[in-house]
Amino acid sequence: MRSLYHLLLLCASCTAALISTRSHAVTIPAAAQDGPSTVGTTYQGYGLDGPKVHPINSTVFDWWYFDAVSADSLASITIVFLADSPTAFPANINGSTVLDAAVSGSFANGTTFYLNTYPAKAEITSAGYGSHGQWGSGRGWTGTADAKTWEIYYDSADVGVKGSMCLESIAPPHLPCGPVKQGAIEQQMPHVGWANVVPDAIAHVEFKIAGESLQFSGPGYHDKNWGDQPWLASINSSYWGHSRLGPYSVVWADARDPEGKEYFSGYVAEGGKILSASCALNSVMVRPWGGDSTYPPVLGQGDPKGFEVTFSVEDHVMRINVTSSLVVAGDPGVYTRFIGSSRGGVCWGAAACVEPSLLPPYREHCHGGML
Ligand SMILES: *[C@@H]1O[C@H](CO)[C@@H](O)[C@H](O)[C@H]1NC(C)=O
Ligand SMILES: *[C@@H]1O[C@H](CO)[C@@H](O)[C@H](O)[C@H]1NC(C)=O
Ligand SMILES: *[C@@H]1O[C@H](CO)[C@@H](O)[C@H](O)[C@H]1NC(C)=O
Ligand SMILES: *[C@@H]1O[C@H](CO)[C@@H](O)[C@H](O)[C@H]1NC(C)=O
Ligand SMILES: *[C@@H]1O[C@H](CO)[C@@H](O)[C@H](O)[C@H]1NC(C)=O
Repeated sequence: MRSLYHLLLLCASCTAALISTRSHAVTIPAAAQDGPSTVGTTYQGYGLDGPKVHPINSTVFDWWYFDAVSADSLASITIVFLADSPTAFPANINGSTVLDAAVSGSFANGTTFYLNTYPAKAEITSAGYGSHGQWGSGRGWTGTADAKTWEIYYDSADVGVKGSMCLESIAPPHLPCGPVKQGAIEQQMPHVGWANVVPDAIAHVEFKIAGESLQFSGPGYHDKNWGDQPWLASINSSYWGHSRLGPYSVVWADARDPEGKEYFSGYVAEGGKILSASCALNSVMVRPWGGDSTYPPVLGQGDPKGFEVTFSVEDHVMRINVTSSLVVAGDPGVYTRFIGSSRGGVCWGAAACVEPSLLPPYREHCHGGML
């Protein structure tokens, strides 16, 4: 792990110069605003992690999501800074405000928590690939312009949360259909925007939750989503997740719109370099197994036990079997977020998959012999 870290620090200095330093600042009041919002659909060359929807009316959403899971997959934390009404995205249940700072997760013994605070205003500034946000005082994040280093903090005596986590990114940002570049599409599917600024990171977490200590290190992640109409009007079903296997950082999104059309977005990086980032047909396919694995899923059904996630990486296939170990948040029958373990590997044809755990920790060259 130590050598991986050094390798990436060297890379950081060579990519930083290419990133625009133009910044963009927005203040969001707690009240839903009237009238149409302007909503981003393609990357303008700046503000990758900035506000994408302005102003926030009652039918749009814009949020910043951060998570970390302990290396043993037991403890976890997710912090989401939301700007939306309950009508736009039901994660915010408070009808009197669009601003919600939500913190949820699990202690190592499996006890979960879910806490929300509702600030009077939010402020976001983006610079380069990074951003800075504040949801009232004491709650927010800062990410450097090269998107390498992030600190997310949450201090609220009202709900008994105090602490912070830091993320050291180990995988380059991407948009739904490929690497970040000016003019690239930012929509994962019609009406739903997605920018994944930190696909994988080394996270260090140090919180006190209701007086109990939550401290761990493990993989971390940050992305943001936004939309110009309520989530449920755009999406019938959606599977999304991320994982690290040996030298590989992977992110998947596989969703269906109300007409049943399926949209894919798969990302695989190895040792800090993108191997594949695509929204092509079957770039990644996610299918549930075990438990209630009805596909496509419908409102009200139970949870599966896991997912089979199949990425196309050039002319190879990477198959991952994700197994749920704990439900950490959700609304039964509608939405479930879980942590778990993943196994898998890179396959040549139907047989001979190599488990990443059997591969060296990382290789500096990406293509060629192994993949
Ligand atoms: C909010 O903005 C969106 C995007 O411009 C627009 O389609 C929608 O009608 C607006 N909603 C309200 C309640 O004004
Ligand atoms: C909803 O948010 C407001 C602030 O806008 C806050 O005063 C109120 O307590 C919140 N409601 C609940 C149920 O937490
Ligand atoms: C699990 O750990 C938390 C934090 O230390 C503690 O508050 C809780 O009581 C524990 N739960 C059980 C069932 O032991
Ligand atoms: C989308 O979801 C709605 C509500 O659950 C359902 O009636 C409809 O059949 C679904 N569409 C498809 C194509 O499955
Ligand atoms: C995934 O793993 C589970 C648990 O080990 C196993 O029961 C299941 O058959 C596996 N699925 C696939 C497709 O390999």
